[in-house]
Amino acid sequence: MNWYMFVLGSSVGKKMLMAVTGLCLVGFLAVHLLGNFMAFAGADAFNAYAAKLHSLQPYLTIFNIGLATLGLVHIVIGTILFFENLKARPTKYDVYKNPGGRTIGSNTMPYTAVLILAFIILHLLKFTFVDKSATPIFELMSTTFANPLWVLMYVVAMVIVAVHISHGFWSLFQTFGVNHPRYMPLIMNLGLIVTFAFGIGFASLPVYLYLIQ
Ligand code: HEM
Repeated sequence: MNWYMFVLGSSVGKKMLMAVTGLCLVGFLAVHLLGNFMAFAGADAFNAYAAKLHSLQPYLTIFNIGLATLGLVHIVIGTILFFENLKARPTKYDVYKNPGGRTIGSNTMPYTAVLILAFIILHLLKFTFVDKSATPIFELMSTTFANPLWVLMYVVAMVIVAVHISHGFWSLFQTFGVNHPRYMPLIMNLGLIVTFAFGIGFASLPVYLYLIQ
C-alpha cells in the first residue's frame, strides 16, 4: 500500500491526517494567542503589531492559503470519518483502538466542530474581511467587546474551542500509539493544561476589553 492509499484509504491513515492537521491548526492558535496578548499592552502596541504582520505580504497571503488548506483538509477528512463512524464501530478499524476514552470532548466532537466552523466564519467577517483603514484593529475589537453579548458569544466559543482541542490532544497520542498506561496520566494532565491555557487565554481578552471600557 503506497503512502497516498494508506492515508486516504484507511481509517488509521485518515486519523493520522486529522492529528497532523489538527496539530498544525493548534500551532496557529498558539501564535494567534500570543499575538492577542499584545492587546494587553494597549492600542498602540497592538495596532503596531498588526501593521507589522500586514507588512509581511506576500508571505502572509501564502501563510493564510496554507492555513485555509489545513483547515479544509481537517474538515473534509473529519466529515468522512464521521460518516464512516456512523456505519462502523471504531473497533472495526484496521489498527486504531479506542480503549474506553469516551469523554465530553470525544462525544461532542462533531458538534463542537460545526460550531467552531460557524464561529470562524463570523470571526473572519467581524475582524478580517473588514475595512481596517477606517478603524484600527484594536478599536474594532474594543467597540465589539463593549457589547456584553459579543463578549458572551466569544467566551462560549472559546469554551467550545477548548473542549474540541481537549479531545484532539488526547486523540493525537492514541492515533500515534503513545497510549502506554504509564504515560496516560501525564498526557491527560498535559491535555488539561493545554485546554485551559487556550480557553482562558483566548477568553481573557474580550472580558478584559469589556472591563476597561
Ligand atoms: C477572543 C479570542 C479571539 C480574538 C480577540 C481574536 C482576534 C482576531 C483578530 C483581531 C484578527 C484579525 C487580525 C488582523 O487582521 O490584523 C483575527 C484573525 C483570525 N482569527 Fe482570531 N481571535 C480570537 C480567537 C480565534 C480563534 C479561537 C480562532 C480559531 C478557532 C481564530 C481564528 C482566526 C483566523 C483564522 C484569523 C485570520 C488570520 C489571518 O488573517 O492571518 N481566532 N483574530
